[in-house]
Amino acid sequence: MKTTRSPQYTRVAITLHWLIALLIAANFVLAWSAEDLPKEQAAALMGYHMANGLTVLGLTLFRIVWRLIYKGPALSAALSAWEVALARVTHFMFYFLLLFIPLTGWAMVSGGGRPVGWFGLFQAPALPVGSDKALGGIFKESHEVLAIVMLALFALHVLGALKHMFLDHDDTMARMIPMLRRR
Ligand code: HEM
Repeated sequence: MKTTRSPQYTRVAITLHWLIALLIAANFVLAWSAEDLPKEQAAALMGYHMANGLTVLGLTLFRIVWRLIYKGPALSAALSAWEVALARVTHFMFYFLLLFIPLTGWAMVSGGGRPVGWFGLFQAPALPVGSDKALGGIFKESHEVLAIVMLALFALHVLGALKHMFLDHDDTMARMIPMLRRR
C-alpha cells in the first residue's frame, strides 16, 4: 500500500484526535454519573454511554486506516531514545485501549443477546459471545480495568505534552494544536 509521510498531521488526523478525546471524556462522565442515579435515569445515561462508545470504536477503526495511509510527521529528532520509546509505547497502547474498551463493553452487554441502540437511529447486533455468566464477568472486569489503565495513560500523555511545551519549549504540542504553530 502506498503511504505518505507528511510534515504535519493532516486536518483529519487532528480532528479525530480531539473528537475521540472528547467522546472518551464524555463516556467517563456518563458512566460515573449513572452510578448514583435511580435505575431508569441510569439506563438512559448508559444508553448514551454505549452509543458513544460504539462511535469511538468506529472512529478508531477509521483513524487506524487513515494513519496507515497518512503516516503523520516523524517524531522530533531532538527527542532522546527513552522519549521516543515512551511515545511509541504510549501511542500503541492508546490504540489498543481505544479498540478493546468499547469491544469489552459491547461484549459485556451482548451476553443477553440484545442489540445495542445507536442514538435511536439503528441497532448494532449483539456480538456472538454466548451467554456464559463467567465470561460476561470477565468482559465487565476487563472493561473496568482497561478504563483505569486508560486514565493512567492519559495522565502520562498530558504530562508528556506539558513537558514538551513548558520545559523543552519544542513544537510537539503544536503538532496537535495548529494554532500554537510558530510560523
Ligand atoms: C470509549 C469507550 C468507552 C469508555 C472509555 C468506557 C468507560 C467506562 C467506565 C469508566 C465505566 C465505569 C466502570 C466502573 O464502574 O468502574 C464503564 C461502565 C460500563 N460500560 Fe463502558 N466505556 C466505553 C464503551 C462502552 C461500550 C461500547 C459499551 C457497550 C456497548 C459499554 C458498556 C458499559 C456498561 C454496561 C457499563 C456498566 C458496567 C457495570 O455494570 O458496572 N461501554 N464504561
